[in-house]
Amino acid sequence: MIRALKVREHEEFPGVYVVDFEDGSSKLATINLAPGIKVYGEQLVSIGGKEYRIWNPYRSKLAGAIYKGLKTNPIKPGTKVLYLGVASGTTPSHVSDIIGPSGVLYGVEFAPRVMREFIEKVAVHRSNVIPLLADARFPSKYAHFVEAVDVIYADIAQPFQSKYVADNADMFLKKGGWIMMAIKAMSIDVTKAPSETYKREMDELERRGYKVKESLHLEPYDEAHAFVVAQKL
Ligand SMILES: C[S@@+](CC[C@H](N)C(=O)[O-])C[C@H]1O[C@@H](n2cnc3c(N)ncnc32)[C@H](O)[C@@H]1O
Repeated sequence: MIRALKVREHEEFPGVYVVDFEDGSSKLATINLAPGIKVYGEQLVSIGGKEYRIWNPYRSKLAGAIYKGLKTNPIKPGTKVLYLGVASGTTPSHVSDIIGPSGVLYGVEFAPRVMREFIEKVAVHRSNVIPLLADARFPSKYAHFVEAVDVIYADIAQPFQSKYVADNADMFLKKGGWIMMAIKAMSIDVTKAPSETYKREMDELERRGYKVKESLHLEPYDEAHAFVVAQKL
């Protein structure tokens, strides 16, 4: 295995790190909040007494977005995040690393088997993660368990995703808070070209009063996916 030589914090994003390897390559990483535990087979690297988890952009759309030049990343140490569509926890585990012990991640997932995996691999090892077995289309069902948050991260690949994300943001997002959303064109409408779908989803966010600040394509890390960042004004 290629040896990791040194690590530095990302220039713009606190809690995100860049590990330099002896072959000259550099990779994104986060400090492992659950030392010794892997979530998706990622490489663990120890430098200066800390353990880092290498963050794979082909497995995590947030890492892909950072590699593609994301400008705004409101997820930092202490951030409260409502995460819609946690699946088995690949990206959520890195978000949990970044926000650290003073942050909170409310993780919504509606598939029971997937949620069990999320709990076993992620939630039981991390005190900042609160799993919620629930359907993101019905935010009032989990309103009792979620406080006001700084960021809503959505990756639910649903038709009308923006509508459901805005419903959650109306209910839980602080003023000035951020929506980060992955749009999978094919899941939303197979009859439309991807750019048409992205535009429709972004227009819906704007119609609901959320200002789209940034959007980017995730190729080559993810085909036919866009990543959007919007703010509650
Ligand atoms: C693409 S995966 C998420 C991957 C994850 N965000 C990551 O990066 O590691 C989408 C997940 O959203 C879940 N999902 C889809 N619609 C949902 C809904 N309405 N409510 C809750 N979860 C939903 C699916 O069951 C699936 O596990």
